[in-house]
Amino acid sequence: MRVVVADHPLITHKLTVLRDKNTPSPVFRSLADELVTLLAYEATRDVRVVPYDIETPVTATTGVRIAEPRPLVVPILRAGLGMLEGMVRLVPTAEVGFLGMVRNEETLEPSVYAERLPDNLEGRQVFVLDPMLATGGSLIAAIDYMFDRGASEVIAVCLLGAPEGVEAVRAAVAQRNVTLVLGALDEKLNENGYIVPGLGDAGDRLYGVVG
Ligand code: PRP
Ligand code: URA
Repeated sequence: MRVVVADHPLITHKLTVLRDKNTPSPVFRSLADELVTLLAYEATRDVRVVPYDIETPVTATTGVRIAEPRPLVVPILRAGLGMLEGMVRLVPTAEVGFLGMVRNEETLEPSVYAERLPDNLEGRQVFVLDPMLATGGSLIAAIDYMFDRGASEVIAVCLLGAPEGVEAVRAAVAQRNVTLVLGALDEKLNENGYIVPGLGDAGDRLYGVVG
């Protein structure tokens, strides 16, 4: 697995505001959106393209365009929804699928509660969006889901990751073609499975607390 941790002062600056517990939801949503656009630039570095012939006002030349099948972007509900617009702004021709997962806060085990994805992901490049990679359970399950349906490559984009989760994902994906793009690699997980220093519960900070 290839792991890319963004190393850019603008990203660190925006993450600092995102982490601040006094940052209100509207600002949090707008920062998550901006951050994902910056990370998407790195995440799409190897997006598949094919040669494309055009004529400029001066001459004929060959450029590239996004290859078919188009990239598939899959936000993990809920919190991944806060990253969707920022991603498709950069890749407007991408298709979008949805996977709803929730982590049991006692066992830390994830479960799938909603799914709207093409049945056949044969040969697809899939961009999975989830702001938080904590134990890695949710991301491992999401990655398995995509490869079970035939995806050829998964690029996961997370705003924050814990070292424990990154290692769990690395062990689980083995030799499969997976890239992980992180805004920051944090220090550790706490006893409740939260990322430290982290930013708290991303879904709650984006959309409010559900009972
Ligand atoms: C959060 C987060 C990830 C998961 C990470 O989702 O968005 O999906 O936890 O934890 P893990 O790495 O230990 O699996 P949550 O279950 O809180 O759902 P939500 O997005 O609906 O708030
Ligand atoms: N999910 C979150 O939203 N935040 C964490 O720190 C861990 C899991």
